[in-house]
Amino acid sequence: MSDMRLCCPFLICLAAALSSALVISSPYLWTKLILTHHWPSTFCSMEHCHPNISYWTLHGLWPDKGIDCNSSWHFNSSEIEDLLPDMEKSWPNLLHPSSIGFWKYEWHKHGTCAATATSLDSQHKYFSKALELYHKVDLDGILRKFDIVPSKKYYTVSQIEGVIEKFYGVKPKIQCVHPSKNADFQILGQIEICFNPDFILLDCEKQFIIETTFNGDWDNRIAVDKASGFSVCDHDLPVNYPPLP
Ligand SMILES: *[C@@H]1O[C@H](CO)[C@@H](O)[C@H](O)[C@H]1NC(C)=O
Ligand SMILES: *[C@@H]1O[C@H](CO)[C@@H](O)[C@H](O)[C@H]1NC(C)=O
Ligand SMILES: *[C@@H]1O[C@H](CO)[C@@H](O)[C@H](O)[C@H]1NC(C)=O
Repeated sequence: MSDMRLCCPFLICLAAALSSALVISSPYLWTKLILTHHWPSTFCSMEHCHPNISYWTLHGLWPDKGIDCNSSWHFNSSEIEDLLPDMEKSWPNLLHPSSIGFWKYEWHKHGTCAATATSLDSQHKYFSKALELYHKVDLDGILRKFDIVPSKKYYTVSQIEGVIEKFYGVKPKIQCVHPSKNADFQILGQIEICFNPDFILLDCEKQFIIETTFNGDWDNRIAVDKASGFSVCDHDLPVNYPPLP
């Protein structure tokens, strides 16, 4: 009995230590899903494409841990045939509009990692859940509703963040492009909204995520960090939210 009493505080400490180590306590290796939206005008100004879309489109649904988790699980667009019309509209390949390369890339890099959760363990489940979350969140509609619209005028980071935090009750991660090192403004590029593994909205931590870039080919990728162009928006600089050129 006295041994037990000695043991217990130790076990409590151990349990606390384990639960703060997210990797260990998560059944899926990941603990958070990041629904990433990008703004086509900004994306195309970086990647030299010709944007014709004036709403926030999906970039991806990313687990916070794991990349390329199962290279033998090939992307097969026949499995998501019923989703393709919505994919083309909501998750377009801005570089090559008629190519499936973007979805293939996202599936291999992130989908195969998300698929460790039974709720996401098929291509159909993964892509349909991403579309469902995108429509539920309706970031584009919410920003418009609160008068954050593409414009020649400037916004503050707090204005944009404030609308999102107030509406969804969680902190987003807002990323900008800095046109040059000493530029006196920044360009709105990407907005992340985060979920827990049960798809409940969650604060996006200020956590470093490795982003990738590519040379006109989604699969020809080079891992980079800030060199991809996006970084968390600077609260001290005005934000340009560019309309279509
Ligand atoms: C944008 O351009 C692409 C390729 O030319 C076309 O397939 C697509 O329908 C256009 N989208 C809009 C919203 O006009
Ligand atoms: C990887 O994917 C293949 C094809 O779907 C599947 O048979 C295999 O079980 C997966 N491996 C792991 C470790 O999940
Ligand atoms: C792709 O998926 C379809 C529908 O599930 C299936 O009939 C087909 O065999 C798959 N193709 C490959 C190459 O796995």
